[in-house]
Amino acid sequence: MNEPGRDWPQRLLRWYRAHARELPWREERTPYRTWVSEVMLQQTKVEAARAYYTNWLEKFPTPQAVAAADESEVLHAWQGLGYYSRARNLQRAMREVAADYDGEIPADETALRALPGVGPYMAGAILSLAFNQPVPAVDGNVLRVISRLYGRADDIMKAKARREVTALVAKIMPQDEPGAFNEALMDLGATVCIPKVPRCEACPLRADCVAYKAGRTRELPVRIVRTKQQLRYVAVAVWERDGTYLLRKRPARGLLASMWEFPSGEGETAAAARADLTAKWAPELGEACWERRHVFSHRIWEMRACYATALRPPEKEEVGMFTADELLKLPLAGPHARLAAALLRKEYIE
Ligand code: ADE
Repeated sequence: MNEPGRDWPQRLLRWYRAHARELPWREERTPYRTWVSEVMLQQTKVEAARAYYTNWLEKFPTPQAVAAADESEVLHAWQGLGYYSRARNLQRAMREVAADYDGEIPADETALRALPGVGPYMAGAILSLAFNQPVPAVDGNVLRVISRLYGRADDIMKAKARREVTALVAKIMPQDEPGAFNEALMDLGATVCIPKVPRCEACPLRADCVAYKAGRTRELPVRIVRTKQQLRYVAVAVWERDGTYLLRKRPARGLLASMWEFPSGEGETAAAARADLTAKWAPELGEACWERRHVFSHRIWEMRACYATALRPPEKEEVGMFTADELLKLPLAGPHARLAAALLRKEYIE
């Protein structure tokens, strides 16, 4: 009653053989393809990742192609996926793979973990999915499935819960099909054992599930989120001359590092943001021409853009004037890409 049946992994695998989702990265498994798709899927839903994945492989078919590309090309291919450090780490890792491993991704946990951006989940996913090694790959989906299945009531945001779930999966995973088992857990979590109101009627593990039997599937898993998104106001200056726009490159560290954006100021109120912008960049601003709220994981930007009627870029900033075509090829910082698109389509408030 308080433990799932010992043969649940086999039941799950049978379900997976019948219900696995058709996804582009499952068609031809290579370590590189697995790597790219898993990095994309870290903070992005499967449906949104599809097009990015296909486009990425056309542009960068091999680790060497990523290694040889300019960072700006890589960031441009990533534009819209967010969390740009993932793209930068992917490129840095492929540069090391090209330089130190002759372009072959190593099939070894220690070697993988030493590469940029590779944590326990990534290493487990690459080793199990691409090399069929029996290593767990515990993401949020797997934590949810296992918490419900075993009736775990501790906070899954804690490292201890992740460690214990990883140990459990390592012990129970079928040694001959570790990749399929890991992906089956992910698919079950993504399509059946979903957050809030799971689809238990479709679940192959219902008879095993401690949470289901106790009527507690809506309470589990316990997930305590402590960080509240911080609200910041961002005032943006649009400076256009003869069809070219002035952009600045953000600093190499911090949020949206090295991405391009329209000059901006920030503050805790709209007036403070405007004052910051006029002090740093644009002593004279016209009427607001565009407004948008952009939600990041830990921050919300309440943005308002205005045409500048005078501009004085600070000396140490890296700036450039770009035509519409050039603008669309630059790696633009998240919401600034939307502002650029709105300006070029002339969708602004006049
Ligand atoms: N989410 C992250 N990796 C995944 C995978 N390989 N299959 C399905 N969902 C995933």
